Amino acid sequence: MAETETIDVTSPLTLPCGLTLKNRLAKAAMTEGLADTRNRVTPTLETLYKRFAEGGCGLLITGNIQVHPDNLERAANVVVAPGMDQAALDGLRRFAEAGRRNGTALWGQISHAGRQTPIAVNKTPQAPSAIALPLPGKQFGVPKPMTEAEIQDVVSRFAFAARTLKEAGFDGVQIHGAHGYLISQFLSPRANARTDAWGGSLENRARLLLEVVRAVRAAVGPGFGVGVKLNSADFMKGGFGDDEAVTVARWLEAEGIDLLEISGGSYERPIMMGNETMASDTKARETRRASTIAREAYFMDYARTMRAAVRTPLMVTGGFRSRAAMDEALASGACDLIGLARPLCVTPAAPLGILDGSLARLDDWESRLRVGPGRWLGPASPLDLVKLVNGFGAQGWFCLQLMAIGEGREPNTGLGVLPAFIRYQIGEARSAKTMLGARKAAGVQPGGV
Ligand SMILES: Cc1cc2nc3c(=O)[nH]c(=O)nc-3n(C[C@H](O)[C@H](O)[C@H](O)COP(=O)(O)O)c2cc1C
Repeated sequence: MAETETIDVTSPLTLPCGLTLKNRLAKAAMTEGLADTRNRVTPTLETLYKRFAEGGCGLLITGNIQVHPDNLERAANVVVAPGMDQAALDGLRRFAEAGRRNGTALWGQISHAGRQTPIAVNKTPQAPSAIALPLPGKQFGVPKPMTEAEIQDVVSRFAFAARTLKEAGFDGVQIHGAHGYLISQFLSPRANARTDAWGGSLENRARLLLEVVRAVRAAVGPGFGVGVKLNSADFMKGGFGDDEAVTVARWLEAEGIDLLEISGGSYERPIMMGNETMASDTKARETRRASTIAREAYFMDYARTMRAAVRTPLMVTGGFRSRAAMDEALASGACDLIGLARPLCVTPAAPLGILDGSLARLDDWESRLRVGPGRWLGPASPLDLVKLVNGFGAQGWFCLQLMAIGEGREPNTGLGVLPAFIRYQIGEARSAKTMLGARKAAGVQPGGV
């Protein structure tokens, strides 16, 4: 591309691994919860990815694909782990075929939920330390601190998952190092109180992430995409901070990763959903420009900081809704790829409209999703439980739309947040019960599939 040519959403992007994406729009990871009771790919998941692939994005990143069957983010996650059967491998191949239609690249997000594993799936999940998620509602158990051998096992499971996805036809993997899942727990001093080589200094807290990146790269070789999703910060006092994120990004650059996605937050503080203002957390807010990007994309300030620190291609996700903001972010050079999530839950083909200019803005359903009117019933309610129901209810709302698309139904945008919360919670409890029952019936041992 000529140096003077302005980069916009339609420009292709070649990543260091040699993979060329046909444009600058990427579907960010969204958990699907559409696997069968043995955590294998289903036709519903394939249908959903056909729709996404036909929707125009250059890159699709799957929702959490779990590397450890006992530490899931949802009971119906796809699991890629040693011992998986031929049906599971065939399912991954069909998944790759569906998501790679239309010249689209497909990356699997590989993840371990750690202490964010629901209690219905595992009462004592693996985590760096025995520090439970401090959330009301008893949805998460007290985790078991991992032994050295368990940590090494998890590193090799990430490598196994990446190699298996490559063999199934995926174009790359994204290692989930954000949003409070296991790798992000190791990074955060609030969740990691270890005094061994995996805790304490930033170097020690980042060891798991870096070991996983190295093991994954060794397993897949040079021509396959390896990316990382990293929190710009946890937005919690004493958590993983933004200066630390820059240092970790430099270490990741030295490892030669192909893409760094910037996000932030966790279940405790779901900043990645834009639910809370960052005003009290960051000086950067004060210097935000009165531009289209500043109003929409809430991690752009961090992207600028990251851009100044590393040359790794950057993807920024969170809040992008207008073509103007997307083009502005790309033209500024602060990021290389625009991540999109919630709008695609209702309109998977919306990126086509953004790309051909027929659509100036994506829908922002999230701004209308709340349990009820007023401050007390809204997402910023002073009551923790109401806040939680708003957060998980909206999340459930989007997940139920994804399910509808996968099942060939129309999205139900008239669904309320409270009914979505209840339906989603009941559905999750049922799917945990059936998944655990199916494993028991098949004589699956802990750690097996
Ligand atoms: C239904 C749903 C599921 C999500 N699942 C994941 C996930 O599995 N992995 C992940 O890294 N982020 C996940 N996210 C966060 C999104 O990738 C993204 O960071 C967030 O929605 C902000 O982008 P947006 O404003 O374009 O929606 C999920 C978001 C939603 C709405």
